[in-house]
Amino acid sequence: MSSKIIDKFINRANHGDCLELFSQIPDNSVDITFADPPFNLKKKYNGYKDSLEFSEYLNWCRKWIAEMARVTKPTGSIFLHNIPKWLTYYSNFLNEFSYFKHWISWDAPTSPMGKSLQPAHYGILFYAKDPKQNKFYEIRYPHKRCRKCGYLLKDYGGKKEMLHTFGPLVSDVWTDIHRIKHDKYRAEHPCQLPIHLLERVILMSTDDGDIVLDPFLGTGTTAIAAKRLGRKFIGFEMDKHYVNIAMSKLNQERQSSKMGKVWVSYFLGDLVTIRDKDWDELSKNYYIPEPASQIDHTKIMRKNVKKICSHFEVTNKNDGSSDKNGQLQLIAD
Ligand SMILES: C[S@@+](CC[C@H](N)C(=O)[O-])C[C@H]1O[C@@H](n2cnc3c(N)ncnc32)[C@H](O)[C@@H]1O
Repeated sequence: MSSKIIDKFINRANHGDCLELFSQIPDNSVDITFADPPFNLKKKYNGYKDSLEFSEYLNWCRKWIAEMARVTKPTGSIFLHNIPKWLTYYSNFLNEFSYFKHWISWDAPTSPMGKSLQPAHYGILFYAKDPKQNKFYEIRYPHKRCRKCGYLLKDYGGKKEMLHTFGPLVSDVWTDIHRIKHDKYRAEHPCQLPIHLLERVILMSTDDGDIVLDPFLGTGTTAIAAKRLGRKFIGFEMDKHYVNIAMSKLNQERQSSKMGKVWVSYFLGDLVTIRDKDWDELSKNYYIPEPASQIDHTKIMRKNVKKICSHFEVTNKNDGSSDKNGQLQLIAD
């Protein structure tokens, strides 16, 4: 019964107010919820006025946060992205319905606030609906190297023999994913998130076929990431203009973010996030230096990389990768 109710919302950017739409979603019916709400910082959206009174904003946030927790399955996770100020309140709300796992610090410069330290990160709260049942996969990102000399930036001292050939496990501080700064990479929206940020969240917390719900879809970032990774999605967005952009981007989206049979996240043709458990399979596509300690100064190299140039649609401008029949295509924009 509940699957029938939810079906009409699936794989769509649904137009409407999130609280009204949430009321039609059954309890415990989606695998993860991710929200990137308005920050109440007077951002210039198409229609939404981003300037509520302090208590009015928080009372409203409390309602949709409770809804996120309600609709998330016991195996599922709840993610909230915002500036640290609002996350301190969100955390209090979430503690009533779910269990703290992490405060992810996403290293990204933000606007100066005046008479303060320079804000340099956004937070992503990561909560489990039920910590005993929570679905979670360890993930890895590529080693960071000096651009000139190619050596690893981090000093692993005497432990080089133990280096992972792909890269370290992702911690709760994310410094390798940059905000979309240039206008040519944005659709018509003031606060678009990078697709590979959402792909990282999705890879660590869901399986293919799972349902990802975003109550503030904007121009569709979460939905595109879910679609590329073979997940289902439900998006809510109150602004019809953004709904139209999201649906048009989704209709054009043809990419499957895979290497061979494995779901991965790419940015500009390079892997940015993989699951730890998938490296044995993925490593077959790479020349790996021997002994592994040489990783210190020698990069792993992809086999059979075919470079092609093609036009890249508006929707994909901030991510230039695809994989067809196991062949990586590096796409020049
Ligand atoms: C910070 S933006 C989300 C951007 C999105 N993460 C992206 O990458 O495109 C917040 C969005 O929430 C929408 N919004 C504001 N109030 C809403 C409500 N009550 N219900 C649904 N959407 C709402 C705004 O129109 C805006 O597009």
